[in-house]
Amino acid sequence: MPVGIYISVPFCRTKCSYCNFASDVFSRVVFERYVDQVCTEIQNAPKTAAIMGGKFERFVDSIYLGGGTPTVLESAQLHRIFAAVRNNFDVEEGAEITVECAPGTLPDDQLEGLLRCGVNRVSLGVQSFVDQEAAAVGRLHKRETVLADIDRLRSSGISNLNIDLIAGLPHQTAESWAYSIEETIATNVPHVSVYMLEVDEDSRLGREVLAGGTRYHAHFVPDEEAMADFYLAACAALSSAKIGQYEIVCTQLCGLGHYKMRATMLVMTEADFEKWLQQQEAANQ
Ligand SMILES: C[S@@+](CC[C@H](N)C(=O)[O-])C[C@H]1O[C@@H](n2cnc3c(N)ncnc32)[C@H](O)[C@@H]1O
Ligand code: SF4
Repeated sequence: MPVGIYISVPFCRTKCSYCNFASDVFSRVVFERYVDQVCTEIQNAPKTAAIMGGKFERFVDSIYLGGGTPTVLESAQLHRIFAAVRNNFDVEEGAEITVECAPGTLPDDQLEGLLRCGVNRVSLGVQSFVDQEAAAVGRLHKRETVLADIDRLRSSGISNLNIDLIAGLPHQTAESWAYSIEETIATNVPHVSVYMLEVDEDSRLGREVLAGGTRYHAHFVPDEEAMADFYLAACAALSSAKIGQYEIVCTQLCGLGHYKMRATMLVMTEADFEKWLQQQEAANQ
C-alpha cells in the first residue's frame, strides 16, 4: 500500500502569539543543518523501519511539507529535501505534494522553485481575513496579501489550495468571523481547515489566557461558548458552499462530509525536535 510522507520544517519568520506547534524563529545557519539531517533521515528510512520491526514501503502517494513555515527555506534547500525523497522512494506520478505557506512568504522565485519540486497543493495559514485580528496575533499578512497569493498560485497552475482559519482569535466577534468565512468562500478554494483556538501552556497567548492576564490581547479572546458557536457556524456555511473540510473535530460536531487528506506520516514530534536542538547546541560548544 502506498504511504504518505510528512516532513516538518519547524522554522518561521516570526512566532505567532497563539501558536503551540513545534516551530520558532532561528538563524539561517540552522536551516542548512536541519535540511542535512532530514535528508540523512530520509536515506536511512529503510534502516529505521528495520530497527523498528516495520516494513519499508517504497511507494508514496502523498508528500506533505508542514511546519512551521517550509517556505522560509531557500529554494535550493527545499529542492534537496524533495530530491532526497525521490531518490529513496518511488513517488507515484500524480502524487499529492503539499507545502504549507504563510501568506506573504511566496516570492516569484520561491513559487517557481516549488513548481520545480513538483508541488501541486498549497495550504495557506490565513487564520483571519480581518487585518486587525491577524495583526493582533503577530501575523505579517493582510487580507490583500492572501488574495494576491491565491491569484499568483492559480496563475502558476496550483489551484489545489487549502485555507487554515482559527475560531477564537482575540477581538473576533460573530460578525467578524462571518466576514472571514464569507471571504474564504469567495476565494473558491476547494478545502478549508477550521481550528478552534487551543489555549495551553505551549503558546504565549495560551499562557496569558490561563493566567488571566492582558498581554497579547488575551482578555479579548472570545469565551468557549462563543468559540464553539463560531465553529458550528463555519461548519454550516462551508457545508452549504460545498467546501471540503478536514478538521477531525468538525466531523464529530457536525457530521459533515469530510475531505480526507492523503495519509501523512513521518512526523517529527516536539520531543524529537527538542532532542535535535540539544544535539545542535552540544555540537556548537
Ligand atoms: C503549523 S501551522 C502551518 C501554517 C503556516 N505556518 C502559517 O501559519 O501560515 C498550521 C496551522 O495550525 C493552526 N494553529 C497553530 N496554533 C494553533 C492554536 N493554538 N490553536 C488553533 N490552531 C492553531 C493555524 O491555523 C496554522 O495555520
Ligand atoms: S501559526 Fe504558522 S507561522 Fe505562526 S508560528 Fe505557528 S507555524 Fe509559524
